[in-house]
Amino acid sequence: MEVNQQMRRRGVVPVVTLRNTEDAVPTAQALLAGGLDVMEVTLRTPCALEAIRRIAREAPRMCVGAGTVLTIGQTEQAAEAGAQFIVSPGFSGTQAAWCRENGLMLLPGCVTATEILAAMEQGLHILKFFPAKTCGGLDGMHLLHGPFPEVRFVPTGGINGENFLDYLAAPFIHAVGGSWLCPVQDIEAGRFAEITQRTQTAMEKIGVR
Ligand code: 3PG
Repeated sequence: MEVNQQMRRRGVVPVVTLRNTEDAVPTAQALLAGGLDVMEVTLRTPCALEAIRRIAREAPRMCVGAGTVLTIGQTEQAAEAGAQFIVSPGFSGTQAAWCRENGLMLLPGCVTATEILAAMEQGLHILKFFPAKTCGGLDGMHLLHGPFPEVRFVPTGGINGENFLDYLAAPFIHAVGGSWLCPVQDIEAGRFAEITQRTQTAMEKIGVR
């Protein structure tokens, strides 16, 4: 299955920040046990690239991507570590071209018509919408859906267990992203069973898409 289809089917892309490499595989396994086989590891910690490498090697059923990828150098490093998709908080034409040339899915953050046009020029129509809550949320995306009916959004920033189904119900939503399934505190306290439970509940609520 293509990565974008996998995101669409599951409905949720957990945004995961890891401070210890040792937590990488248990976190991936906790998500897998809850029925979710896609995750984004943010490049916000020194161990993030090694964490991606370990997940790619030791939890091969997991489709792991890299998030907070801000530069071409980071994009190359993430791809080399085994990331199957790249997430950026904003749009960079250089990064989009690199990902296209290297066959890697890119989810760039676009919240204005101008950014969406730039992304479409690079052949992209599945776009991150960040920070969703403060950029108008569902109303903002609904308004952009008018001129851009072919665009599908992956909103992140302020999505949680209470509101994610509202987002998923909208026709212009591809999937949602967020940190609520895998909070840093649970990972660091080794509460992997809770991550599994929360994931399972979310997957049951989403059902078949
Ligand atoms: C992020 O980049 O941190 C994501 O948008 C997650 O946001 P959240 O913590 O509000 O889910």
